[in-house]
Amino acid sequence: MAKIIDGKAISQQIKDELKSYVEENDLGKKLCLAVVQAGEDPASKVYVNNKKKACEYIGIGSQSFELPEDTTQDELLSLIDRLNEDETVTGILVQLPLPGQIDEDTVIRRISPKKDVDGFHPMNVGALSIGEKGFVSCTPAGIIELLKRSDIEIEGKECVVVGRSNIVGKPMSMLMLRENATVTICHSRTRKLPEVCKRADILIVAIGKPKFIDHTYIKDGAVVIDVGIHRMENGKLCGDVDYEDVAPLCSAITPVPGGVGPMTIAMLMSNCVQADC
Ligand code: GUN
Repeated sequence: MAKIIDGKAISQQIKDELKSYVEENDLGKKLCLAVVQAGEDPASKVYVNNKKKACEYIGIGSQSFELPEDTTQDELLSLIDRLNEDETVTGILVQLPLPGQIDEDTVIRRISPKKDVDGFHPMNVGALSIGEKGFVSCTPAGIIELLKRSDIEIEGKECVVVGRSNIVGKPMSMLMLRENATVTICHSRTRKLPEVCKRADILIVAIGKPKFIDHTYIKDGAVVIDVGIHRMENGKLCGDVDYEDVAPLCSAITPVPGGVGPMTIAMLMSNCVQADC
């Protein structure tokens, strides 16, 4: 039987550790996350609210900036400039996606790399790829924590990452490489995808297609990490992995919900605690 990796419990453990760390080091008044949302995307509103609640839970400050849908790029950039300058703000997060008139890359580049708790700025992405210190994108960082805290060895293992996004696939590959795995990155044009995935001791799936990965992609005893989250017609959530079909073959697997999802906010809080100006 596959071990079910409990992301909810592990994320709670991390938040509790951070809460104690903030208390013991009297950081509560020194740290403040500024969360910026432009527009009315309902999913973004939920995420932003959860981020503010998490700040409150671990005992650090937060400020939120809710901008209208028709905000111009210049208006958003001047808010970022102001937050970059503000010494009481130690972390800045601009919730994505942004309204169509605003270029996300320009916005991400404007955030000071020292306050970029999402780890999206090219300086932080570059630091990760050359093994220097910097903020690491939260979802991939959370997956490393899930593996380590579940006593799953990474060093020397064959790791296949399906998906090459800047937020998950690419940083995930860099982190697994840093942990001394042998890493293959796959994407929509990869030939013989099931065959390549079947090589994996650790398979990490972030392709954004519901239940795409079935048992034909899985090596016996593999660890499977599912980054996807989709709402099905029956209202239930599923991942990129067909859990029922795949779980019997795995040594360990993340469920959806309750696997990777809760780790993103826990790692955001970890980045916020490490931020100081
Ligand atoms: N939208 C969906 N996920 C994220 C995230 O991790 N950070 C930001 N800024 N926006 C998102």
